[in-house]
Amino acid sequence: MAEVEEALFGHAVSRAPYVTQAAQHLLSAGGKRFRPLLVLLAAETGTRPDSSDVVTAACVVEITHVGSLYHDDVMDEADLRRGADSANARWDNLVAILTGDFLFAKSSELTALLGADAVRIQAETFTRLVEGQILETVKPGPGEDPLQHYLDVVAGKTGSLIATSARYGARFGGATPEVEEALTAYGEIVGTAFQLSDDILDIASESEESGKTPGTDLREGVPTLPVLMALASGDPADARLHELLGAPITDEDEVAEALGLLRAHPAMAQARAYVVGQAAEAKALLDVLAPGPVREALDAFADVVANRSS
Ligand code: IPE
Ligand code: IPE
Ligand code: MG
Ligand code: MG
Repeated sequence: MAEVEEALFGHAVSRAPYVTQAAQHLLSAGGKRFRPLLVLLAAETGTRPDSSDVVTAACVVEITHVGSLYHDDVMDEADLRRGADSANARWDNLVAILTGDFLFAKSSELTALLGADAVRIQAETFTRLVEGQILETVKPGPGEDPLQHYLDVVAGKTGSLIATSARYGARFGGATPEVEEALTAYGEIVGTAFQLSDDILDIASESEESGKTPGTDLREGVPTLPVLMALASGDPADARLHELLGAPITDEDEVAEALGLLRAHPAMAQARAYVVGQAAEAKALLDVLAPGPVREALDAFADVVANRSS
C-alpha cells in the first residue's frame, strides 16, 4: 500500500500546476483506499502477487474512484469530502468536473499499460458506474419495484468498480480463471454491501467519523435502503416520517427531524441485517480458495464492510 500511495501522487500530475493541485486535493485529503487494498489482497490468491502490474491496477481503480468523487460531489452538491472541502466547494463545479475528467483520462492511460483486455474491463466498469450515477437521478418506472431499482443503481455505481478491483487483483496477481471469476462475484456483492453500509452511515454517523455531511441523501431526495425500508412500513406512527421523506428535504430543521426519526426506526436494524446477509453471501464465494490467511483476510474484509463505522 505504501508503494501504491506514492505511485498515486505520481500519476495525478499535469503540465499545469493548478491542475495538479486540484487533482491531488482529494488524494491528499485521505480516504480509506479500500479499492486498491482489495486489489492487493485479491492478488495474494495468485502466483505473482508482487507483480508491478498489481500496483498499476491498484492505482487504476483508486484514480477512477477519486475521479468519480469529484463528479459525485457536484451531483450531490456536497461541501465536505474526506474531511476536507469538496472540490466544488473549494473551487467551483467547473473545476470539479474537469478535474474528475482529468483523473479519468489518467486512469485510462494507466490501464493501457495493462493490455487491451484490462482496457475493455475498465471501460465496461466505467459505463456501469456512470449509468448507476445517472439512474440514481431517475425515478423507478411504473410497476418497477423501488427497492430493486435502488439495488440496481448501487450495483452499478459502486459494485462495478469494487468487483473490478477484486478481478484485477486476481488477474494480475496470476490467479486461476476460476478464482478470478469467484472473486469478481465476491467483489460485486461486497461492493454493493459497501454502498448500502454507506447509506446507513449517511443517516447514523456524524461528520467527524465519516468526513462527509450526514443527511446528504435526504437533501438530494435519494431514497436509500433504510429510507425505502421505512417507507414500506404501514405503521401509522410513521405518518410524519413518510411526509418528510416524500421529496428532497431543503429545510435544515426538517433534515434534523428526519434523521432523528430514522435513527430510532426499526428500518435501520432491518437495513443492517440485509447488509450482513449480503456479506455472508459474498463470503460463501470464497469456497474456491484453499483455507489459509488469504482466504481469512478476504472473509474478514467482507465483515468489515458489513459492520462499517466510517
Ligand atoms: C465513497 O467511497 C463513495 C461510495 C461509493 C460510498 P469510499 O467510502 O470508499 O470513500 P473514500 O475513498 O474512503 O473517501
Ligand atoms: C457515490 O455514491 C458513488 C460514486 C462516487 C460512484 P454516494 O453519493 O452515495 O456516496 P457519498 O456518500 O457521497 O460518498
Ligand atoms: Mg455523494
Ligand atoms: Mg451520489
